[in-house]
Amino acid sequence: MKMRMLEEDELFPSTPGKVKIERVNHRQFHRCFASTSTMFLWALFLVALTASYLSFQSFVDTSSRYLSASWGGLHWEKQIRASAQPHRADAAGISVLVTGAAGFVGSHVSLALRRRGDGVVGLDNFNSYYDPSLKKARKSLLSSHGVFVVEGDVNDDKLLAKLLEVVDFTHVMHLAAQAGVRYAIENPASYVHSNIAGLVTLLEACKSADPQPAIVWASSSSVYGLNEKVPFSESDRTDQPASLYAATKKAGEEITHTYNHIYGLSITGLRFFTVYGPWGRPDMAYFSFTRNILQGKPITVYRGKDHSDLARDFTYIDDIVKGCLASLDTAEKSTGGGGGGGGGVKKKGPAQYRIFNLGNTSPVTVPTLVSILERHLRMKAKKNVVEMPGNGDVPFTHANISYARAELGYKPTTNLDAGLGKFVKWYLSYYGYTRGRKNV
Ligand SMILES: NC(=O)c1ccc[n+]([C@@H]2O[C@H](COP(=O)([O-])OP(=O)(O)OC[C@H]3O[C@@H](n4cnc5c(N)ncnc54)[C@H](O)[C@@H]3O)[C@@H](O)[C@H]2O)c1
Repeated sequence: MKMRMLEEDELFPSTPGKVKIERVNHRQFHRCFASTSTMFLWALFLVALTASYLSFQSFVDTSSRYLSASWGGLHWEKQIRASAQPHRADAAGISVLVTGAAGFVGSHVSLALRRRGDGVVGLDNFNSYYDPSLKKARKSLLSSHGVFVVEGDVNDDKLLAKLLEVVDFTHVMHLAAQAGVRYAIENPASYVHSNIAGLVTLLEACKSADPQPAIVWASSSSVYGLNEKVPFSESDRTDQPASLYAATKKAGEEITHTYNHIYGLSITGLRFFTVYGPWGRPDMAYFSFTRNILQGKPITVYRGKDHSDLARDFTYIDDIVKGCLASLDTAEKSTGGGGGGGGGVKKKGPAQYRIFNLGNTSPVTVPTLVSILERHLRMKAKKNVVEMPGNGDVPFTHANISYARAELGYKPTTNLDAGLGKFVKWYLSYYGYTRGRKNV
């Protein structure tokens, strides 16, 4: 052992010399030979290791792809069927696929349907436009009431085809969308993805389903754009959108008309006017004002160019839900044949096509909204009043709801004061505040 160590020392002299080098060369032949074979073995070992790593990696990839598609399988189908099963005593229950079910309006509509005994399956991609934990909390609430929410995108045609194959949905309540006006400056593609491409993917799936479901979907009061005739009626012009959001909703109205015309899909479009209430959207003014007031932070209040106050026809969520349920209940059946697409889906006759305003018919200015919030929160707001930037917001909205009243029996009953009181109560309990002090 000692000898061997000496040899090693010789092989690697600290000061190289000719003699030594010659001696070294002689011995190096054996050393080289030995080291080449060792290297060969090492190389072989490394190749084998790399190969097994790669095959393991591809296995992991395949499995994660399979797992990340968090839908499919017998158990999943069983959950879908159970959730879609109506439980109404009068046997008149409907089965509704609610897209955007983890969203503000979607969660309320899903719950209301479930409470009256209808079958509901939700679909939502839980995107991070605003805090996804709020969407997860809404999902938990729905799940505690027996509503199953599938995590998926409305652009996933295979998922939609599967859902419509597993259940003969009588209706689709399409509420999934990229909402919000100002976010389009930052992420215009998200509006095209969800509000245009997603809508077409959904309509394609519905047109091919057999039976075809009737579709009720959310358009928006924003389609009235620069229209100045008040109150806004369904027959008013909607060809002057002021934002990309509005333009995608207007496009949605034209696209749904096409599918109604060609394939006989029964379509009801609902133009919601500034919906607010418990479990609402954090990106909306009443919500962010509440948060900032409670945290002692300033709020930005926009004013029109001529110093006029902005006004909105704020509509309480329960009134919107009643309008949605009435739309589902009065929707006629689709008239297309369903079954496979490929241009072979013929309608048997004209199908219903409707568009309704769902508003409150009493616009309230933003400063009034702030003072109502101050009263409910028992705290003063620090206001920064600035001129409204030209980023898509319109100065006022005001709905004429006579058509919805006549056809749907729609009659809003909650004024802004009462509705904000309920919102503030929810907000304080959800975020754990007591009288302006955060508990958690
Ligand atoms: N809240 C309002 O004041 C208001 C006013 C007019 C119109 N609307 C419309 O009503 C509908 C519901 O609005 P909301 O206020 O509940 O908004 P929301 O953002 O709370 O709900 C929309 C839900 O859709 C989901 N979603 C978005 N893109 C999706 C996609 N590609 N695939 C699957 N899920 C997707 C989101 O994750 C979200 O949970 C939307 O179509 C919106 O444009 C709302």
